[in-house]
Amino acid sequence: MPRYLAPGRANLIGEHTDHTDGLVLPVAIDRGVTLEVDLGGDAIALRSADADGEVEVPADGSHTPEQGWGRFVAAVAAELAQAGRRPVGMRGALSSDLPQGAGLSSSAALEVVLGLALADAAEFEIAPLELASLCRRAERRAVGVPSGIMDQAASILGRADHAVLLDCGSLEYRHVPLPGDHVLLVADSGVRRQLETSGYAQRSEELAAALPVLEGRRPSEVDVEELDQLLAGVPEVPARRLRHVVTENERVRQTEQALHEGRLDDLGRLFTAGHASLRDDYEVTIPELDRLVELAREGGATAARMTGGGFGGAIIALVPSDRVTAVEATIRDGYGRDYPQHPLQLHRCRIADGARRLDD
Ligand code: GLA
Repeated sequence: MPRYLAPGRANLIGEHTDHTDGLVLPVAIDRGVTLEVDLGGDAIALRSADADGEVEVPADGSHTPEQGWGRFVAAVAAELAQAGRRPVGMRGALSSDLPQGAGLSSSAALEVVLGLALADAAEFEIAPLELASLCRRAERRAVGVPSGIMDQAASILGRADHAVLLDCGSLEYRHVPLPGDHVLLVADSGVRRQLETSGYAQRSEELAAALPVLEGRRPSEVDVEELDQLLAGVPEVPARRLRHVVTENERVRQTEQALHEGRLDDLGRLFTAGHASLRDDYEVTIPELDRLVELAREGGATAARMTGGGFGGAIIALVPSDRVTAVEATIRDGYGRDYPQHPLQLHRCRIADGARRLDD
């Protein structure tokens, strides 16, 4: 039986920049969603080992379950039908080792693994970034969230030991090597979020209110030096949202440079500034995430910041290999003392390859 895998992602930096066609620097991680299926038939019939239950939808996605993960199955199938795929079904099982609601893109991994398998089932050729765009549209169709393309693109384009620098406007990308002597530690706050109920759409709307001052330019095309002048007449909240996005795009460029030149201190400074901007200007962190970042740095992480949409979820820390145990201990002690009610989870992640068929 063919097997397909789509990894989750952690974003190194470039948060809330994708939905205004900006720059992002995510990685694919060694956790994800696996689909084992027989291809063929009229229906898509899937069991899920984790999310419980079974889903059956027509192969063209023309009927959508009202709630649960079946909405994603129907949405991906419907988007593929719209793109011209023949309605060929499949039958099998899904499993995942990605925590849900932790900001590691479990829904994007689900969309991508379904998209890959369904394209394969009908021998439907689709380019990697077209599949990412299609899965992004499926996310919106399934749960109504106006998210960007980062999560799906990272799951598809990821490469072992590299980050993906993606310009979400031009869709140009390149792979950026990561320091070999560091581990990516994900600290999941245990505070659950769902994009559909978080303030994601509200933040996008507040940001959109400031965009007219750019007169058609993308935020990534604006020089940080211009900001004060541009924002002078803009109401405070939209102004802060746009300041985050413009400065964050610049931090992505600087992070790539710092990685290229091995300037790890600068990496720490950039991640810290990025987190502060998400806390103060974009306002999507929560005190638990702020505390986890502090603790990671206190323990000896080179760089740490929240990752993903925010309002809960996880932080990432780049940690020298010989300090991982010490950083984990500092985080466990401090977080356990301050937030004993939350089930903290620490994951040491390898930076992995993107989505693929595992065997023939
Ligand atoms: C979520 C969205 C992404 C991106 C991030 C924030 O993960 O799905 O498109 O906007 O939030 O960077």
